[in-house]
Order: sequence, then structure tokens, then C-alpha cells
Amino acid sequence: MEIERILRDVPKKKPEKGEPLGFGKYFTDYMFTMRYSKAEGWHGARIEPNVPQAFDLATSVLHYAQGIFEGMKAFLLPDGRISVFRPAENWARMNRSADRLCIPPFPEDVAERGLEELLALEREWIPDGPGTALYIRPTIVACDAALGVHASKGYLFFIILSPVGSYYAHGLEPVKLLAEETYVRSCPGGTGEAKCLGNYAASIKAGELAEEAGFDQVLWLDGVEKKYVEEVGSMNIFFVIDKEVVTPALTGTILPGITRKSCLQLLREAGYRTSERRISIGEVAEAAKSGALTEAFGTGTAAVISPVGLIRYRGEDLQVGGGKMGEVAAMLYDRLTGIQTGRLPDPYGWRKII
Ligand code: COI
Repeated sequence: MEIERILRDVPKKKPEKGEPLGFGKYFTDYMFTMRYSKAEGWHGARIEPNVPQAFDLATSVLHYAQGIFEGMKAFLLPDGRISVFRPAENWARMNRSADRLCIPPFPEDVAERGLEELLALEREWIPDGPGTALYIRPTIVACDAALGVHASKGYLFFIILSPVGSYYAHGLEPVKLLAEETYVRSCPGGTGEAKCLGNYAASIKAGELAEEAGFDQVLWLDGVEKKYVEEVGSMNIFFVIDKEVVTPALTGTILPGITRKSCLQLLREAGYRTSERRISIGEVAEAAKSGALTEAFGTGTAAVISPVGLIRYRGEDLQVGGGKMGEVAAMLYDRLTGIQTGRLPDPYGWRKII
């Protein structure tokens, strides 16, 4: 498929050098798009100005959330080349999410070429300050203007780009989590392992209540017994208990994070004992009280490696890690960001050079 280019002057102001970027506040000049129709399949790939779009208010994604997305990051390497972290993993996960949401599979090679061309065009937007990156948001939304609850016949695939800093306002300081017992994120048979719009919509109420109570995010428990730890609002979760690094197993209700997978590999190769298993919030609480729990941290594209300093469960505050980043999290942060930014060699071939 050819990728058409529609270029014109898009007078967007870039953030000043050194200005705090926050997360997802600025967007670059151009985006990549392609469309799907039953008659033509995926077609019409193009790079075009990222400007507000007009759409019918009956557009089905607005009503029934038939849509999916991904998150990736691009970095400027010390030699000036652009690198994207493990994009093939994201495309593959996006097509798995598409399958769960009845969205037709998209051609990963076209998406990859579209991303490469877009990044080459937008290289001036890639920030190079510490802890910054160009965040990549591929998305597919259902486009039929129709109110029946059915799989749409038409879809829009787009990639927008946003220069970002830290996901959390207080950077690498440990976050406070509230173990949630009223609301659940997902249940067996639901959409928990898909990166779909509805999962995030359903999480907002608990997230807002947690923020009002002074927490950064919710620690989700399983939707059946509310006993086993699943994940955090925007990241997977790891615990270090008796020198073993434990993360909840991927049982179908948890997002299969690419940062999670990369961390497990880095940990195993650094000689840590790791385990992917069910871990109950009771076990975490016991380990916190006995001192066996030495660290907890979240992993995600946006969150990178984010230490956890406190978990509130049933009104009790479990302190973790003495209020600072622990050694396992620090090792992972150093290795992961080192590979991403080109500060360290990339023995696993995780950098896709544009
Ligand atoms: C990511 O880490 O890329 C995410 O998609 C999490 C969140 C910002 C929704």
C-alpha cells in the first residue's frame, strides 16, 4: 500500500527546550491514518496534518466504545538516529486486541512504515531531556454512523505523537496505591487483556475516588474474589518478596505489558529469581508487615518503572521500600532507559532504528 503525503504548514508551537512536558499535553504537526471498509479492506494510508476532525455524532465508537489503542515511545539516540522501543510487540498486541473487539486485522507492515515516515517527518518534536520521549499513540476506532450494537463496517486507524516527560506529576517519587475492593477492572471472559477503550472508561470512577483520597492510582484486585492482585491503573505491578521478584501471571484479565515482559527478561538475565503467579493482597500485606516485602514497582510504557511507596488495603497503610526507589527497580530503570535511549548496548535487538 502506498502512503500518500498531504503536507502543508501546520503552525503548531513546539514546547520550549527544558519546559516540563507532562504527559499527553502536546501533539505534533502530522499524523498517520488509514481506513477500513468491507469493500476495500484497509486502504488510503496517508500522512496528513493532525488537526481537529469533523465526524457524525452517531459514530459508533462514541456510543459503544469499539476501539483499541497502543502506547510506544521513540527516542533520539546519541548518534542522532531515531529509535522506537519494540514496536513489533505493540503491533502484535494491537491485532490481538482487534480480534477481541471484532475489528478486522490491520497490516502491521503498513502501520510500521507509516510510523517510520511519520517519525522521520516529526524528528524535531522528539525531546532529548532526561526522562523524556516522543510518545506514540496508535488507535483504531469504529466509524459507522449507526446506533445498532454490531461490529462496525468501517474503521479509522490513526497514529498521533506527543512529546512527553514523566507520567506522574512527581516523577520517580514512589506512588501511593489504593487496593480497590468495590470496583473491578475486569473479569474472566471480559476484555481485561485487550487494550480497549472501555477498560479505561470503566476504571475512571475508582481512579477519581482514589485521587480524591490522596492516592496516585488504584491497585486492582481480581474481579471474582477481590483477593488476587492484578495490575495498577496504567501499569503492571511487581513485588520483591524474600528476594524473589513476583508479578501476577497473565491469566486473561491482565494487560500483557511489553515493559513487563522486557523487565522479566532483564531480571532473569541479571540472575534474579522471578515468578509469574497469582499473588493475593493478603500475601502482600503479610510480607509488608514481616519485612519480607522489600520493594514494589509498576512497569509500563508511559510509567516506565515507577516505585510504589505505600499500599492502602482495608484502611491499613502498608509501607513499602522506605519511601524511595529500591535496588531492583533502580536496576531495571537504568537498564531499560539505557537500552531505549542508546546509553547502553542493546543485546536483545529491542531498538528499532528508523
Ligand atoms: C501506556 O503506558 O502506554 C498506556 O497506554 C497507559 C496509559 C497512559 C493509558
